Amino acid sequence: MQIDLSGRNALVTGGSRRVGREIVLALAGAGANVLACYRSDEDAAQAVLAELDGTDGKHRMVRADVTDPGDVAALIGECRSHLGTLDIVVNNAGSFGFAPFDRLPLAEWNRMLEIGLNAAYRVTQGALPLLNPGASVVNIGSAAALYGGAMRTHYTAAKAGLIGLTRSLAKELGGTGVRVNLVAPGAIAADDLAQTDPGQYRMLMENYGKLTALGRITRPADVVGAVLFLASDLSSYVSGETVNVDGGL
Ligand SMILES: NC(=O)c1ccc[n+]([C@@H]2O[C@H](COP(=O)([O-])OP(=O)(O)OC[C@H]3O[C@@H](n4cnc5c(N)ncnc54)[C@H](OP(=O)(O)O)[C@@H]3O)[C@@H](O)[C@H]2O)c1
Repeated sequence: MQIDLSGRNALVTGGSRRVGREIVLALAGAGANVLACYRSDEDAAQAVLAELDGTDGKHRMVRADVTDPGDVAALIGECRSHLGTLDIVVNNAGSFGFAPFDRLPLAEWNRMLEIGLNAAYRVTQGALPLLNPGASVVNIGSAAALYGGAMRTHYTAAKAGLIGLTRSLAKELGGTGVRVNLVAPGAIAADDLAQTDPGQYRMLMENYGKLTALGRITRPADVVGAVLFLASDLSSYVSGETVNVDGGL
């Protein structure tokens, strides 16, 4: 079955790389108009736009830091002027980090809450006036929020908070027909972590593969099916849910 999102308008945060890039390509491939943001990597953003060439729909990449209220207001303004209304919002932008709890500075704790939780609050609240009845908000969480992980208290706390936001907002917006769900991927190969801390990275990836039913780490493309399902009318009676895409932890 082909998922058809023709004519739907989508906002994707952090759409220039890895998971976000796959989500942008998949939504556009299904016919949606996609406006995506990135924080700093202009080349990566332009590369995604080039890949979208040839798909139907009007697409746009916008530089916006989702931890900056002014940037988020401008991003929502871009959505209003270029798309008018929104049917799909994917809160994907994220960041990662390892730190032992006894040496975790408050600034790093706060940084992770900003990008992992507050950004979804900010973007979703800003997008509310643009949401059409039946719109779908998809938050990208993490399997780590459900299972925990040493050295990741800040990351998992933010992502666990996102589950609470998802469940409560689903109840609050249900009367308007807007659905809110969360996709929780397992560990995905991270090129930047592999460069900064190869030992830690290798250990994480090997251990993770052994823990899954399917015996391997998550790939960015694995996340796409769940997002398309939640963005489409196929999931029109699904709200407040967490969909685990972790290979069976
Ligand atoms: N990687 C994993 O193992 C894993 C596992 C489970 C869940 N997840 C979640 O999946 C999502 C995507 O992860 P990923 O690994 O694909 O991330 P990634 O490779 O680090 O890419 C992050 C994307 O978000 C953008 N971004 C980062 N900070 C931003 C900010 N402040 N404002 C706007 N955009 C920002 C980046 O743009 P620039 O490149 O321009 O900065 C990039 O497009 C995240 O929510 C992450 O927590 C990841």
